[in-house]
Amino acid sequence: MPSPTLVRITDVSPRDGLQNESRTVPTPDKAALVRAVAAANVDEIEVSSFVSAKWIPQLGDAAELFDILSREAAPLPLLSALVPNDKGMIAALDVNQRAGRALIGKVAVFAAASETFSKKNINASIAESLERFVPVIAAAHQHALPVRGYISCVIACPFEGPIAPAAVASLSRRLLDMGVDEIDLGDTIGAATPQTTRVLLDAVHAACPELQGGLSAQRLLTLHLHDTFGRAGACASEAMRLGVRSFDGAVGGLGGCPYASTPGHRAPGNISLHALRDAIASSGLTTQLQLKALDNAATLATSLTRE
Ligand code: HMG
Ligand code: MG
Repeated sequence: MPSPTLVRITDVSPRDGLQNESRTVPTPDKAALVRAVAAANVDEIEVSSFVSAKWIPQLGDAAELFDILSREAAPLPLLSALVPNDKGMIAALDVNQRAGRALIGKVAVFAAASETFSKKNINASIAESLERFVPVIAAAHQHALPVRGYISCVIACPFEGPIAPAAVASLSRRLLDMGVDEIDLGDTIGAATPQTTRVLLDAVHAACPELQGGLSAQRLLTLHLHDTFGRAGACASEAMRLGVRSFDGAVGGLGGCPYASTPGHRAPGNISLHALRDAIASSGLTTQLQLKALDNAATLATSLTRE
């Protein structure tokens, strides 16, 4: 049984961080970033996405990057990847077959609580996206891979404005009923306040009791915050107060979904792991993050993305 004070951290910098960069980072540099983040002792690294390279050219090298990591001698934490459909799932399974092991140890499907965002991000309505996920979840489970179910725009949508917590709660319920092992609530544009975070989590916890109990819950609940207005640390603290023990962040605060950008306003970065670490410490909780290695990883992330 994990300690009730322990907080689990997923670094999403190579995926969410690099997908929004105007320049494409060379694959060996991405592998170096994964190594640096691994040295900081995170629990999981979301390495890349098996999505269309026409939509996200920056991550068109997902398979190549995993192939490099498969030859890594140093131990790596759990590695995961986004898969939007069957085609992405086949590509992820091919990586594991070439590696001869479950190098990709978890996959993530991604839905949205906003119809407009869903259309813009994955060219599907919310209902169509759920249909696409059915065979993906089945294939993942057939290969003993857990599935993370992201929900974007859990507080607000860049196109539709505020999103009702009830909509997020019912979509969480749907995804859990479809068999996802984890719900990851994405505040895509960093609109959350501690108060809206509380209202959201109360709604999700009420609809999905199996998400209650932090790292001991039957299914994992993760919060994925973007730090647009500098409130993400306060929102993370509020979530910890309400029992959430799993968070996404990015070294150096990289990140942002390109389909969440609006003209003249680039989508903001993920909460930095340094800010998360501070929020965890001030909440009286703990992580296994190593500060010195975290500093090195953040310096590398910043240098790789400097214009
Ligand atoms: P589509 O155009 O509707 O798909 O895109 P399609 O089935 O009509 O196929 C079109 C082309 O894409 C075809 O190629 C397919 O083969 C190819 P063509 O015949 O034109 O050469 N294709 C693929 N190629 C590689 N891998 C695949 C794949 N599927 C089809 N898996 C699709 C639908 C979902 C593919 C597209 O919309 C897409 O790739 N979207 C990705 C968007 C994305 O990655 N967004 C960022 C991640 S979400 C996010 O950042 C939010 C999050 O961080 C949480 C938060 O902050 O809220 C997770
Ligand atoms: Mg994101």
